[in-house]
Amino acid sequence: MNKIECVPLTKDHILQVYEIECLSFSSPWSIEALKDELLNPTARYVVAIKDKKVLGFGGMWLILDEAHITNIAVLPEYRNLKVGSLILESLIGVGQKEGTLAMTLEVRVSNINAQRLYSKYNFITAGRRKAFYQDNKEDCLIMWRRQ
Ligand SMILES: CC(C)(COP(=O)(O)OP(=O)(O)OC[C@H]1O[C@@H](n2cnc3c(N)ncnc32)[C@H](O)[C@@H]1OP(=O)(O)O)[C@@H](O)C(=O)NCCC(=O)NCCS
Repeated sequence: MNKIECVPLTKDHILQVYEIECLSFSSPWSIEALKDELLNPTARYVVAIKDKKVLGFGGMWLILDEAHITNIAVLPEYRNLKVGSLILESLIGVGQKEGTLAMTLEVRVSNINAQRLYSKYNFITAGRRKAFYQDNKEDCLIMWRRQ
C-alpha cells in the first residue's frame, strides 16, 4: 500500500479540496476562493494524498514573519488517523523553511479535536474573540505557536 504524502496544492487538487471543505465546514470556501489561493503570493497550501486521492489539506498565509493558518481539514472517514498531524507538520516545516517566527490560528471553542491537534504541536491559547463565527455566533480561541 502506498503511503500518504504531503505535497503543494495544485489546480488538479482543487475539486477534491472543495469537497473536503464542504464536508468539514458550515461556511465552506467557494471553488473560486480556493483557486484564488493558487495565485496568492502569501498563501502556502499542502494536500495529503494517497494514490492521487486527496485525504486532507491545510493552508496558511505568510505575513511578515508570521504564518496565519487559514484552514485545515481531513475527509471524515480518514479523521483520527494522523492525517491532520501530517498536514500540520508539513505547514510547520514550510513556515520554518521560509523563516517564520510564529504561527497563529482561530478555532471554535467547541472544536475540541482540532484544539487537541494544535496543542500536540505546541500551539497555546492566547485569547478569545466573542461571537467570531457568523453562523452561530460562537467564540473562537486564538492560538499561537512560537517556532
Ligand atoms: C481537526 C482535524 C483536521 C484533525 O485531523 P485528524 O486527521 O483527525 O487529526 P489526527 O488524527 O492527526 O489527530 C491529532 C490529535 O488530535 C486529537 N484528535 C483528533 N481527532 C480526535 C478524536 N476523534 N477524538 C479524540 N481526539 C482526537 C488527538 O489528540 C490527536 O492526537 P493523538 O492521535 O496523537 O492522540 C479533523 O478532525 C477535521 O478535519 N475536522 C473538521 C475540520 C476542522 O474542524 N478543522 C479545524 C478548523 S480550526
